[in-house]
Amino acid sequence: MSTEPSALDDLLQEGRRFPVPEAFLEGAPHVSDASVYAEAESDFEAYWEGWAEELDWYERWDQVLDWQPPRVKWFVGGKLNVCHNCVDRHLKGSRRNKAALIWEGEPGDVRVLTYHDLHRLVAKFANVLKQLGVEKGDRVAIYLPMIPEAAIAMLACARIGAVHSVVFGGFSPDSLADRINDAEAKVVITADVGHRRGGLVPLKSNVDRAVVNTPSIEHVIVVARGAGIAEDVDVGMQAGRDQWYHDLMRDVRGGVPCEPMDAEDLLYILYTSGTTGKPKGVVHTTGGYLTQVYATTKWVFDLKEEDRYWCTADVGWVTGHSYVVYGPLANGATVFMYEGAPDWPDRSRLWQLCEKYGITVFYTAPTAIRAFMRWGEALPKQHNLSDLRLLGTVGEPINPEAWMWYHRVIGGERCPIVDTWWQTETGAIMITPVPGVTETKPGTATRPFPGIQAQILNDDGDEVRAGYLAITRPWPSMLRTVWRDEERYRQTYWSKWKDVYFPGDGAKLDEDDHFWILGRVDDVLNVAGHRIGTMEVESALVDDKRVAEAAVVGKSHEIKGQAIAAFVTLKEGIDSSDQVASELKAHVVEKIGAIARPEAIIFTADLPKTRSGKIMRRLLKDIAEGRAVGDTTTLADPEVVRKLKDRYEDEE
Ligand code: WT7
Repeated sequence: MSTEPSALDDLLQEGRRFPVPEAFLEGAPHVSDASVYAEAESDFEAYWEGWAEELDWYERWDQVLDWQPPRVKWFVGGKLNVCHNCVDRHLKGSRRNKAALIWEGEPGDVRVLTYHDLHRLVAKFANVLKQLGVEKGDRVAIYLPMIPEAAIAMLACARIGAVHSVVFGGFSPDSLADRINDAEAKVVITADVGHRRGGLVPLKSNVDRAVVNTPSIEHVIVVARGAGIAEDVDVGMQAGRDQWYHDLMRDVRGGVPCEPMDAEDLLYILYTSGTTGKPKGVVHTTGGYLTQVYATTKWVFDLKEEDRYWCTADVGWVTGHSYVVYGPLANGATVFMYEGAPDWPDRSRLWQLCEKYGITVFYTAPTAIRAFMRWGEALPKQHNLSDLRLLGTVGEPINPEAWMWYHRVIGGERCPIVDTWWQTETGAIMITPVPGVTETKPGTATRPFPGIQAQILNDDGDEVRAGYLAITRPWPSMLRTVWRDEERYRQTYWSKWKDVYFPGDGAKLDEDDHFWILGRVDDVLNVAGHRIGTMEVESALVDDKRVAEAAVVGKSHEIKGQAIAAFVTLKEGIDSSDQVASELKAHVVEKIGAIARPEAIIFTADLPKTRSGKIMRRLLKDIAEGRAVGDTTTLADPEVVRKLKDRYEDEE
């Protein structure tokens, strides 16, 4: 288990309890009676069916659930369109002129799109895609900054039944090319540049470098994000391949209607890291996904008509898909979106935005909260945050001090905190407080959302108090497969126990039967809330000609939760140096992206291996953490570890 014993002990001592705040109850939350849990349990299929009925369908399903493990279908035979549910259906009545998206760019420019505006743009852009030859089922890559066009592009794909694959703008050209190739995307949508910390991210030039290696790409659509703000952005449009978004939008006549989609038709592919060097294309479909993101957004964030909701995630991650775009828009909410960095032009930007837009519901990651803590409470205290009524966190376990700080400084002790556990694969929130009913404790995601069933199991599949988290019943927003790799789907998620989903996390139950998530138990790191496979980083390192072998482990980090430590063996005749270390770090950034930059590179003549040749990661982790070295008797050459440990301590 990757969580340290000391951290575990701290968790066990957590005795503070936070009942639902009075002020929150006065706001008449959607759920204020815990009987919803029992009702959902009494017939979970009927319960999810009730949620599906809150969406618009062209044709009703004839069966709620078809479960042939690990193949699943929800709302079998039903027909609907996600874009219709997120946009078109709100055009009737009072939401027509309501703000759907309020957006602020990093340089301070503002755009507000009503549902009516959003509809017009999405329907037109859907037509643009159609005219470029994108058909139902085709894949479209989206590599954009956090600008309204990211949501417009996703919804336009959904409108015509194209499958989007959003690639986080921080990924390198190589990573982008790998994802485009795996999905065989026909079109990539990007921007000339993105704005980040006052600088420009060269998205289009990254795309240019990627697409020389992506035979499937026929068109590159470029949103002008630099124009008028950053002068002299010359992105070199390649005739016949590249087109400006604004030109295409100007030339297209009108919009296109929504394509009726089968409940099980693909909505999107989203790549996420696993235990091999190759990211997995997690496949999500239409009816079940929308049902669960709709339900969880409504209940977990208690979303009301008048809320001003802000989820700080980038659309490049699943949180951005489910809780920036699909969940809140399906609920007809007003979504606030911000393009840039939290510390630009200064470290109070987010609080200034909360005050300016009167944000009521705020959802962010523990790593961000720890950074805010570090920056000091004086900054948020200079802003009026009194409109906030609910706070959320996601991405990694939240340490109790960060939780308490969030509660006190940001929430003014009046806002419930929803600590939401879920994954790219689960598509939507799975374990979470329901804010009007759940007493919370700092550090626990509490209990499964109504209708979800989770347990803690050991290797044999017996129920235990501390072990592996397991999801023991299908849920609507489940991943359906790994794109073109059904075997990997079965192997990764369904082979540990029979017909039970294995998320890869360790967990523990407390005396209230609340779940404490303890972190990954596989070779996956969680760096600042982003999932990174150790193998991916190792492959990037050995890709450098000078590297003979590399082993990557996680190392505790005050802000990021985990940072990357890489043990590297250089080839014969190559000398280690600080210079080589920084070149290797740069090489990883070049291959994967800045999120994968190793924090520490430790050169070693040998890596500790078992007699069968397996790298002893646990031991490397102990060394990286500066902890006492554990049992080394299975080491082929125990000297290696001693030397490594000395070396590491010298460098600290
Ligand atoms: C992994 C999933 C789900 C969106 C963001 C990350 C960890 C996520 C929590 C939480 C403890 C959490 C788990 C999980 N995780 N939320 N509230 N408490 N751990 O999505 O990249 O698919 O990563 O993030 O380890 O398996 P992801």
